[in-house]
Amino acid sequence: MGIKIVKQQLLHLKVTPEEVLDFGCGAGVLIPTLQELFPKAKIIGIDKSKEMISVAKRKYKTVMFKEMDFLQYEGTPQLIVSFYSFQFLPIKEGVEKVKKLLPKGGVAVILSTQGSWFSVLHQKISKVWGNKFTLYKGKELAKMFGKGSKLQYINETEGSYLLTYIKP
Ligand SMILES: C[S@@+](CC[C@H](N)C(=O)[O-])C[C@H]1O[C@@H](n2cnc3c(N)ncnc32)[C@H](O)[C@@H]1O
Repeated sequence: MGIKIVKQQLLHLKVTPEEVLDFGCGAGVLIPTLQELFPKAKIIGIDKSKEMISVAKRKYKTVMFKEMDFLQYEGTPQLIVSFYSFQFLPIKEGVEKVKKLLPKGGVAVILSTQGSWFSVLHQKISKVWGNKFTLYKGKELAKMFGKGSKLQYINETEGSYLLTYIKP
């Protein structure tokens, strides 16, 4: 369901990026959608998990994948997508990084959750990494992004939301 929503939003925004960054790409669940929508774009998937990146590389041989932390990423994407990954970042640094990477008019489409169902998984992952992160509310994230951001709740009960940011 989440993939369909991201796809609809990308179609609605009518973006034509040359470079697309899928941050926290995992095993590449969003890649087929990105390839379908942006056949001419350079698609880059990054994830700080070595295992995830090696699975993604095996599945999508023509896509560039890098094992790295989003906060260290240097590139020139006009579109950044994040599918259930943004909540693993420290909010202030994550928002600043998105804003810094995007050019004026550049777009970020972030699907995330404030739901408690996710916090169990979130806590487990945070434990493995030795980091403590919190799930932020959609409203909190939208406020941090400020002008150019738009929040849509997808499923009130399970807490998923879509945050779209167009850099002013
Ligand atoms: C819940 S998974 C989602 C993966 C994928 N987008 C999906 O939906 O299948 C979150 C992913 O974010 C990655 N991640 C978390 N923090 C990251 C960071 N700072 N830089 C890059 N990747 C990160 C994790 O390694 C994990 O693969």
